[in-house]
Amino acid sequence: MTREEVLKLLNSNNSETESLFNSAYETKLKYVGNKVYFRGIIELSNICQKDCYYCGIRKSNLKAARYIMSEEEIIDSAMWAYDSKYGSIVLQAGEREDRHFVDFIEKIIKEIHRLSSGKLGITLSLGEQKFDIYERWFRAGAHRYLIRIETSSKSIYEKLHPADHSFERRLQCLQILKDIGYQVGTGVMIGLPYQTINDLVDDLFFFQENNIDMIGMGPYLVSSDTPLQSYYNNYSDKKNEIYLLGLKMIAAARILLKDVNIASTTALQALKPFGREMGLKAGANIIMPNLTPIKYREDYQLYDEKPCLDEDRELCKDCLDNRILGIDEEIGYGEWGDSPHFLQKK
Ligand code: 5AD
Ligand code: FES
Repeated sequence: MTREEVLKLLNSNNSETESLFNSAYETKLKYVGNKVYFRGIIELSNICQKDCYYCGIRKSNLKAARYIMSEEEIIDSAMWAYDSKYGSIVLQAGEREDRHFVDFIEKIIKEIHRLSSGKLGITLSLGEQKFDIYERWFRAGAHRYLIRIETSSKSIYEKLHPADHSFERRLQCLQILKDIGYQVGTGVMIGLPYQTINDLVDDLFFFQENNIDMIGMGPYLVSSDTPLQSYYNNYSDKKNEIYLLGLKMIAAARILLKDVNIASTTALQALKPFGREMGLKAGANIIMPNLTPIKYREDYQLYDEKPCLDEDRELCKDCLDNRILGIDEEIGYGEWGDSPHFLQKK
């Protein structure tokens, strides 16, 4: 597809949008099928050395009570996922590069790998790290890594982050992760301050040019207690626009990239109760059920109005089973559900 064609998809309205979603769904059935794969996400710590202007757990936000889950709690969550036949887990946390943290993560990966006899997929979402750390974690048993570029526009990136946060370093991290052999996921936020539709077109071509295996993108949502909290003065109107744009981005990504895995993110559900199901209908095939113990959830709010703060993992599972059956899709229980794009490359 050309830039103009992709731009047209993102600018579609009403019935055009409907046919965009339909053709994205067709493409999904053809290239990845109608199965939804689960990645149980464990938000193991909100301690973060970074200070992104949009994020609720940025280090300058003194209102977030900081926590790190214990080794036992993390292992318990991971093994619950294994026993519940979730194919994989995602270990996510604020960014930290200190030795104590890095060693802790390595130990946990090894332990989960051992306890599940290597059968539980281990994805990491732990931000920017040095080459040898990524390599150690890979050797310990992790095989996928998520690191969002947040926006492929360097100039927007610089407006949304303090001067010591580097766009180039983030790009380098993506490259290093691929070189090591991880299956790599990236993504952007949609509806960011300063972002235009043309920037979103660039984002989609960025994924293509970088040969990305997995995409996780979602609407930008305002987080109070961040420097960007009052950027939009008509935020309630804006929300609907951002929600639709989020779905259109999923659809356009599916049509452009075809055989990659695409997550339907919680941020969609934050905007509409059935937002995640709509994401699946627009071409996504991955859901990340939250496995973080309830007592920590309130403190892991990257944005306001995060849904399901009180739904424990059992409830979430039943709820998702029903929601997914309700839209005539199947859940790939007990399967890794690797991105066909990645398998093809290998
Ligand atoms: N709205 C939406 N997504 C956010 N993230 C961080 N802050 C927000 C926000 N206010 C996303 C970033 C990050 C991921 C873990 O969460 O894209 O990479
Ligand atoms: Fe969590 Fe429904 S998705 S309870």
